[in-house]
Amino acid sequence: MILTIRKYPDPILSQPGEPVTEFDAELRKFVADMFETTYASQGIGLAAPQVGVSKRLTVIDLSMGKKPEDRLVLINPEIISSEGKLYEEEGCLSFPDIREKVVRAAKVRIRAQDEHGKWFEMDGEELLSRCMQHEIDHLDGMLFIFRMSALKRNLNLRKIRKMQAEGEW
Ligand code: NI
Repeated sequence: MILTIRKYPDPILSQPGEPVTEFDAELRKFVADMFETTYASQGIGLAAPQVGVSKRLTVIDLSMGKKPEDRLVLINPEIISSEGKLYEEEGCLSFPDIREKVVRAAKVRIRAQDEHGKWFEMDGEELLSRCMQHEIDHLDGMLFIFRMSALKRNLNLRKIRKMQAEGEW
């Protein structure tokens, strides 16, 4: 089932998600819906608050559905170490048509639970590292527009208000 993606400034996007405690069939159905929604939107990652569920859960698939082994479910994820810095462009399904350069750690090591509740650790570099940090930010109620420089944030907020006024947002 394709879920509705909430756009900025929906208040749920700015709320920290609650930890996931039940690893049941309902959770696995939700994970499947999250992937389906990500693919339908041609995204590479989606966090539960973006579909109106204030939980610490995110899905990532850099292959956009082409490689099953790239499907990544991160539940209650934490960044346990990071190194380096990269300044690259990124986007967000809650900010359609907005792409901007944002500083992120070049490499991260994360700890998370899978959809069965099993803890694992994993390293991410380059785009995967960026995507992990972007999605984990969503679980803390942090949006990429607030990682931009003040100048770019204000330009983008103005662009959003203009689109809202024209009924295009
Ligand atoms: Ni996003």
